[in-house]
Amino acid sequence: MTATPLAPHENLQGRHFLDLGEFQQAELRALVRLARELKSEGAASASALLRGRTLALLFEKPSLRTRVSFEVAVSSLGGQALFATGSEMLVGTRETPEDAARVLSRYVDAVVVRTHEHEPLERFAAAAGVPVINGLSALYHPCQAFADVLTMEERFGSLEGLRVVYLGDARNNVATSLAQAVVMLGGSMRFASPLSHRPSEATLERLAKLGASSGGRVRAFTDPVRALRGADVVYTDVWTSMGEEHLHERNAAMLLPYAVTERSFTYTAPHAVFMHCLPAHRGQEVAAAVIDGTRSLVFDQAENRLHAQRALLVALITDGKGTSL
Ligand code: CP
Ligand code: NVA
Repeated sequence: MTATPLAPHENLQGRHFLDLGEFQQAELRALVRLARELKSEGAASASALLRGRTLALLFEKPSLRTRVSFEVAVSSLGGQALFATGSEMLVGTRETPEDAARVLSRYVDAVVVRTHEHEPLERFAAAAGVPVINGLSALYHPCQAFADVLTMEERFGSLEGLRVVYLGDARNNVATSLAQAVVMLGGSMRFASPLSHRPSEATLERLAKLGASSGGRVRAFTDPVRALRGADVVYTDVWTSMGEEHLHERNAAMLLPYAVTERSFTYTAPHAVFMHCLPAHRGQEVAAAVIDGTRSLVFDQAENRLHAQRALLVALITDGKGTSL
């Protein structure tokens, strides 16, 4: 295959992937470019890039997309995956995150971790001698955001000036990572939520800084109609994230005005698309007519998890030089 080598400042070998906000715009752009190249080349030509490499997946919470797309990604590149959950999921239960990280680093080439809290993941990564990938924590879901901007770039050509509106729980992991990726690539990120679910001022300030050099912008609204005006992308996620089930009834009542329905699209640009990280709840955060309609990109997003994570594994585990490895 002919994947373009990452330039020196874009070389991500050995890095952790916990929070997109720790990356440079050029690095995110390089990852998206590599994902597009690997996707267009097809699976066969990259089939030896991770030969002999092992990826461990430690999941404290359920997963369909993240688990399966990482397992398929590593095997399609010639490597293998090991999955652990429940009582075998070692991050901070049976032993400290640091000890688990030091041990696993002697066996495997990279680790994907899905945790409730973000802090044990940070501790695990700080002690690990191999790249650690955030497979979703309470704060961030960077793998999802990477696949989402790949999907937007495929649809619109570029994120520069693209208006992305996120409705619902605008404080959650998916919303935060999505906003980071959008502003880093020059897009305009709008949140629509009640004050209770609005991103913190610190988050909004950090997003504004992240977007400063690319022209990316961020605004938070309480009125969903004002937020939706001129939207190119309408994005939502579950109203209640994993681990917060005790808040479900409160969230459902407060977020109802932010549900995405066919009416939402009467305020957007005519070409606007719908995105959702999945799993989705039809009749709650999104109407069935929207998610199952012609505007919906949700299964392209889900597919792009695979392509994005193939690129991520190549970039973090190898020197990114394609077949010259
Ligand atoms: N979108 C996403 O991360 O899905 P899973 O929880 O199924 O991995
Ligand atoms: N915000 C959701 C995303 C699931 C992929 C959660 O954390 O449960």
